[in-house]
Amino acid sequence: MENLDVNKLPQHIAIIMDGNGRWAQEQGQDRLYGHYEGVVSVRKVVEAATEIGIKYLSLYAFSTENWDRPTTEVNGLMSLFVDTISKEVPDLHKNNIKLHFIGNLSLLPPEAQKALEEGMQQTAQNTGLNLIIAISYSSRCELVEAAKKIANQVKSGQLAINEINEAILSKNLTTSEFPDPELMIRTSGEYRISNFLLYQLAYAELYFTNTLWPNFRKKDLIEALMDYQSRERRFGKTSHQITSD
Ligand code: FPP
Repeated sequence: MENLDVNKLPQHIAIIMDGNGRWAQEQGQDRLYGHYEGVVSVRKVVEAATEIGIKYLSLYAFSTENWDRPTTEVNGLMSLFVDTISKEVPDLHKNNIKLHFIGNLSLLPPEAQKALEEGMQQTAQNTGLNLIIAISYSSRCELVEAAKKIANQVKSGQLAINEINEAILSKNLTTSEFPDPELMIRTSGEYRISNFLLYQLAYAELYFTNTLWPNFRKKDLIEALMDYQSRERRFGKTSHQITSD
């Protein structure tokens, strides 16, 4: 951790937590066991992010496409979300962490919606790490919803078509209160973004590791951050322009 440059930390890290199923298989266990172990990694990474001083951490916990998994796995994951949120909220609160959820939460079972709602309410005044958990989330759905909201604003005369710009689109996304992630990490050796924050990740540095999510620990996060700090972020400019800025 001493090797990290505190002046070059990303404000916002997004993580696609992948490989729980394969990890469980390796242990000769069923997939849900992998998700339970995945929660241990979530806890470790949240602790590390707080310690390092990251302001925003987004975790992809359940995609819209994940609803198509076998019912036992979906139900198991829903119970895991409820149990984990209910159990962890007091600790999150003690650590000044503010909990947010993005995604189509109306598709979740009522008890899960209630647990999420309570978690958000109880941590709403906190000012430390913003922990954003994407559940039943699809970036394309989010963009479609934003298009509908903007169309309605135009229809009702609040907005003119030529006023629509990138800032207006960002403002109508469910992530409107967060800066865009500068670093996206995906575990388990898969090299895809898979419908996660497609618009918001436009300039993010992408980091892929073969480590399966249940094995991901603080040292893996630090390795990703070291890699991030070794990159030159040019935003379309030349290297010369960046270094002479
Ligand atoms: C992807 O691995 C992981 C998921 C679909 C679930 C991730 C959820 C958790 C780690 C629980 C987090 C809980 C909270 C409350 C934040 P996979 O099942 O696709 O793995 P595979 O590709 O090896 O099959």
